Amino acid sequence: MTVRKTAQIYEGKAKKVYDTTDPALAIVSYKDDATAFNGLKRGTIAGKGVVNNRVSNHLFRLLEKEGVPTHYVEELSDRETLVKKVQIVPVEVIVRNIVAGSLAKRLGLAEGTRLRSAVIEYCYKNDDLGDPMINETHIAALGLATHDEMETIARYALAVNRFLTGYLEGLGIELIDFKLEFGRADGRIVLADEISPDTCRFWDTASGEKLDKDRFRRDLGHVEEAYGEILRRLTGGGGEA
Ligand code: TMP
Repeated sequence: MTVRKTAQIYEGKAKKVYDTTDPALAIVSYKDDATAFNGLKRGTIAGKGVVNNRVSNHLFRLLEKEGVPTHYVEELSDRETLVKKVQIVPVEVIVRNIVAGSLAKRLGLAEGTRLRSAVIEYCYKNDDLGDPMINETHIAALGLATHDEMETIARYALAVNRFLTGYLEGLGIELIDFKLEFGRADGRIVLADEISPDTCRFWDTASGEKLDKDRFRRDLGHVEEAYGEILRRLTGGGGEA
């Protein structure tokens, strides 16, 4: 790959993004920094950047085969990936199969309650406001995305859910919920950001043990081990986290 990193264009809570010598491509670099509750809780999860990079790339490659276009181009190293440069749609898309987290609180439901059908929620991607929940009429009224774009995004989000649920079930992992972000590249919607233990709830099917960022958010211990276990189950190796 002859594309090289140039200037850093963005540093988020978990990743840095760099411009490259190709204006259509960017390089994402995953950090071990962890935050929760909109940055109120901060820490480090050793090896998390490696796990999230490799897990997300593995899943994006599988999703491409399932017909979901993504920003993924090529894994460059343990922590760095070449991606298509996209304009991020400022809407976080949450898909839920089983009640947990903020849904449990909001509706007074017990964590672990199975939903009759998948729930999709949208949040306005704005840290200053704490990513407030919005609906399709807010998205249209604020011009965050068009009606057609939202139709495509919802279709892709449900396709991701269908595929991931079955794939992870085969690995003894229950997919509780997850968050997706989409972007525009050459006028079309593609899956962007990451799919990792930072952005999903994964429960071990047999024991119910949490194998995701809730171990950090809730001080459950064995955080690195949980991330390493997810990498091991998905890619069959390198549980170095
Ligand atoms: P929630 O139950 O806290 O709303 O989280 C739902 C899902 O979204 C869960 O899998 C974790 C993920 N998530 C993120 O990826 N980023 C965030 O900032 C939040 C709040 C949740």
